Amino acid sequence: MKQKSFYIKTFGCQMNIRDSEIMAQKLYENGYLESATIEDASLIILNTCSVRGKAEQKFFSLLGSLRKIKKQNPGLKICVAGCVAQQEGKKIIDRMKHVDLVIGTQHIYDIPRLLKKSETQKTAVNLSDIYEIPPYIPKTNISHPGSGKKPEKQFQFSRFVTIMQGCNNFCTYCVVPYTRGREVSRNVKDIVEEISLFVGSGVSEITLLGQNVNSYGRTNQVTETELPYSFANLIHEVSEIPGLKRLRFTTSNPKDLSDELIDCFARIDNLCPQFHLPVQSGSDAILKRMKRNYTIDDYLKKVDRLVSACPEIALTTDMIIGFPGETEIDFQSTMRLLERVRFHGSFSFKYSDRPGTRAAEIDSKLSEQEKGARLHIFQKRQDEISLARNRDYVGKTRTILVEHSDPTSLMGRTSTNHIVHVESGDKEIQAGDYIEVQITFGGQHALKGKLL
Ligand code: 5AD
Ligand code: SF4
Repeated sequence: MKQKSFYIKTFGCQMNIRDSEIMAQKLYENGYLESATIEDASLIILNTCSVRGKAEQKFFSLLGSLRKIKKQNPGLKICVAGCVAQQEGKKIIDRMKHVDLVIGTQHIYDIPRLLKKSETQKTAVNLSDIYEIPPYIPKTNISHPGSGKKPEKQFQFSRFVTIMQGCNNFCTYCVVPYTRGREVSRNVKDIVEEISLFVGSGVSEITLLGQNVNSYGRTNQVTETELPYSFANLIHEVSEIPGLKRLRFTTSNPKDLSDELIDCFARIDNLCPQFHLPVQSGSDAILKRMKRNYTIDDYLKKVDRLVSACPEIALTTDMIIGFPGETEIDFQSTMRLLERVRFHGSFSFKYSDRPGTRAAEIDSKLSEQEKGARLHIFQKRQDEISLARNRDYVGKTRTILVEHSDPTSLMGRTSTNHIVHVESGDKEIQAGDYIEVQITFGGQHALKGKLL
């Protein structure tokens, strides 16, 4: 019998990357090998993202192009997983005859069984059963999902661990509550066990993942005791796992950022001084229409507390430019916020209508041109600020976790998550090592340094 092999193409966020790893592991356990190229695979999985229109379009165009591959190789199985699958699954099954299987966001763990089932019938798994994350503990540390096809592959000494999924906030622009369902937190014991397994196999940096990690433990019981258990409690507990050198997390909604969590940055040595705190707009009027439940004043107070708890913290944010009804005055408020916080970096996007969301129903949409022009102004200023921030590191000594090392080049990351290229290599240094460097240059997207 021909060896079964899979190829996973991942779109979107870190949680999708982690889900792809889990699907890869489930397939390894069931006798599949990973294919180096999409053409040679007997199973292609597209793990999709629907957060903005662009990501979705990219997926649909790749899916369309697979029709030809399937014609040449009728034995090929094509599976669509992730957020678009969850939202558009039925339509995909009905309209795309070359698709064999659609898997909703909660069913990735079940991929081997669903694949078997799809041999006799097409399976669309839908939102109706989105409410529970099955406790899943990987048996081994898998090191090659994506087999080197960047950016799907994660650096082997640094891993993502999903601690919760879903969101109950229903920000008016956001599709996530419809694709990932209501908030569900994983059990503390399972999380600690999974991280301990990773650390036991050489991983030293962990990023905890959730759509809204600050509300961890709020919607379901996460320990055997009756005590309320918060995200800050989890941070304390995880940070004590022996051998864990760096702990990070993402993503947080500012409204749920507690003083208790801010305090963790002052007290916990291996909690990295880095915080991604999406603000989305600098205008209170827009925040209200986005249903974010905080004001710019609230946001700034939290930023100030974070900076006083941890002066070296590197703050990043997400910004949506051109939300329906955004006026020039609203946009100027966003620019003022940028000047006030001077984010180390930001991910900024043109507002994109998502089906089923409340914002999609609002009139007074801005034209693509207007959104594009504002986005350009925002990004240009952010680039200047990032560059100035990066230049501030020159002359300072930092520890980097080495991600790549050969005799001619050496690259790693600081605890603030800045990339550092080191001028000359050293054959004694390997990926996974922590080394001291002195920063010699601050560029737009990365720093340079020399070995100490
Ligand atoms: N349009 C543009 N950007 C969006 N995001 C989420 N939904 C939309 C949308 N409809 C952005 C937000 C979020 C990030 C992951 O994607 O900034 O924080
Ligand atoms: Fe979407 Fe808002 Fe939930 Fe974030 S907090 S996932 S933006 S609904």
